Amino acid sequence: MTANKTVFIKTYGCQMNVYDSARMSDTLATLGYDETDRIEAADLVVLNTCHIREKAADKVYSELGKIRKLEETTGRDVTVAVAGCVAQAEGEEIIRRAPVVDMVFGPQSYHRLPELLERVKAGERPAAGTGRVPSKARPRAVDTEFPAEDKFDHLPEPVAERVRGRGVTAFLTVQEGCDKFCTFCVVPYTRGAELSRPVERVVAEAEALVAAGVREVTLLGQNVNAYHGVGPDGDAWSLARLVRRLAAVPGLARLRYTTSHPRDMDDALIAAHRDLPELMPYLHLPVQSGSDRVLAAMNRRHGAADYLTLVERIRAARPDIALSGDFIVGFPGETDADFEATLALVRAVGYASCFTFKYSPRPGTPAASESDQVPEPVKTERLARLQALIDEQEAAFLKSRVGLVVPVLFEKAGRDPGQLVGRSPWLQAVHVAAPADLIGGIAAVEILAAGHHSLDGRLAEPAADGAVRLRA
Ligand code: SAH
Ligand code: SF4
Ligand code: F3S
Repeated sequence: MTANKTVFIKTYGCQMNVYDSARMSDTLATLGYDETDRIEAADLVVLNTCHIREKAADKVYSELGKIRKLEETTGRDVTVAVAGCVAQAEGEEIIRRAPVVDMVFGPQSYHRLPELLERVKAGERPAAGTGRVPSKARPRAVDTEFPAEDKFDHLPEPVAERVRGRGVTAFLTVQEGCDKFCTFCVVPYTRGAELSRPVERVVAEAEALVAAGVREVTLLGQNVNAYHGVGPDGDAWSLARLVRRLAAVPGLARLRYTTSHPRDMDDALIAAHRDLPELMPYLHLPVQSGSDRVLAAMNRRHGAADYLTLVERIRAARPDIALSGDFIVGFPGETDADFEATLALVRAVGYASCFTFKYSPRPGTPAASESDQVPEPVKTERLARLQALIDEQEAAFLKSRVGLVVPVLFEKAGRDPGQLVGRSPWLQAVHVAAPADLIGGIAAVEILAAGHHSLDGRLAEPAADGAVRLRA
């Protein structure tokens, strides 16, 4: 084991990448790599990349340009790895475009990191203090296969101190890949086919997280509510069943899951929102568009009315649930009328928050080759109008929390002395003057004011039933 090596990991994209970066860090720790937040001091740099929109992918190349300059100015030879979804999509092309890169591996092969590092190291030439080996002559390792073996079987067990260092909330990937093939989306190509982890493995990982001090776990999958992992009884368990099992893990106070597809929101999962106090009243349920024509062209396989009916059923089961969503404006062929339908849907739902995106044509996806691409200025204008409506809804949601007494999970010290930052049931940050030993605890907080995306409050007496209540 080589001691005292350092790795700098930069993570782009979704929570699944955040989880993967943590697991890469765990794997590298077994090889003697400590994580550093100073890129200029690192022996190994890992860029865990996102391919979802053009801008996300472009960031990788500008970062690689910076690393090349850093190597030139410091004379240090840094090992550079490109991981994640750009790696999967572009493979060796990355090395052609950016010769500074030593390793390229996709989201399903990062458990092979030790082996890939060995391969790069084995080819290393004695530099004899004469600066770096000319980049073109460097040995490279590329691994963008979707390996038959399950990466989760090869990753090290979570180590308590490392988990603790990451805080009291944690991500837990329960499902990989996606089989939905929405016509705009690269995920089915970059992450491969849908695969659910076995129930017992998920439960064991959740228990290990809780033992290390985690209080809130967010279950992850690009299509997490299509989860169908094999249970201890040999049956395929639904997400609802998995969530019920996890709610019974002692010490696990809060559960969330993301991202859900409307088509997979079944009755059992809706009932879990009604029955389980551990399941937080917040649901990210992207719909992308309010126009049936556009939804069909996107291959979402449901209409706007189906979505609205679903929202009604969810709210009937859990009236205090906050909804968030994702929207794409300027999908090929989107007309003014289609866009108005999206605004109408947003008005009908009333979101707590949303992510809005301009359609970005992605190589290899069906929508990218449609001839009726929407001009950029139209996309810009639609995005601004949609965003304004969403901002209004978010502000209204935050304002509606003022005066409530709500359970807050305290996560870390705040910016001001004596202040902690916690998380509301609806996922907003809550700033509260509170003693540091409350970190990891859940306490009743009276919400005093709404900020832009966050809330301010003060410690309060819990309601007699421990539940959220209106101020007397
Ligand atoms: N699995 C999730 C979404 C994954 S990607 C789901 O089905 O909802 C996250 C979001 O990025 C998507 O919901 C979509 O709004 C956006 N997105 C995906 N591909 C895009 C593209 N080509 N252009 C713009 N936005 C895109
Ligand atoms: Fe992409 Fe659609 Fe799969 Fe979500 S469901 S990851 S948008 S293909
Ligand atoms: Fe991006 Fe890959 Fe996630 S493309 S959004 S990092 S699954």
